[in-house]
Amino acid sequence: MKTVITYGTFDILHFGHINLLRRARALGDRLVVGLSSDEFNRGKHKSSLLNYANRKVVLEAIRYVDEVFPENNWEQKISDIAKYGASIFVMGDDWKGKFDFISEYCEVVYLSRTEGISTTEIKQTLGN
Ligand code: CTP
Repeated sequence: MKTVITYGTFDILHFGHINLLRRARALGDRLVVGLSSDEFNRGKHKSSLLNYANRKVVLEAIRYVDEVFPENNWEQKISDIAKYGASIFVMGDDWKGKFDFISEYCEVVYLSRTEGISTTEIKQTLGN
């Protein structure tokens, strides 16, 4: 059983997110997702439109996602990898290089982002 782990905010779910989750899941047999908590988002000055409970329900309904757990801080990734027995750590390539230190614990894969869509962009459009 090969477990893949990834992280994100997944606010206002869109095609780019689904693309990322589908490809992440295809790298293994199980995909677990660390979903940033509302408090963690506030700390990053990146408040989400939908709260954690909402984002979690939506994410859990996706066929590529097996389990969702809260991401509360930057430091928990190494212990999450051990806890979930993850052998592949996936992030979009907007994070390329930032998580290379994790390769000491499991394989690190950066997947290409889907062009032309992001939550920030959707929010800006809604705001106009
Ligand atoms: N992602 C992607 N393609 C996109 C948007 C996001 O592959 N067009 C990936 C990100 O690289 C990340 C995951 O989806 O691995 C979750 O991204 P998140 O930060 O929640 O979403 P964004 O839409 O990038 O949000 P924002 O614009 O607020 O940064």
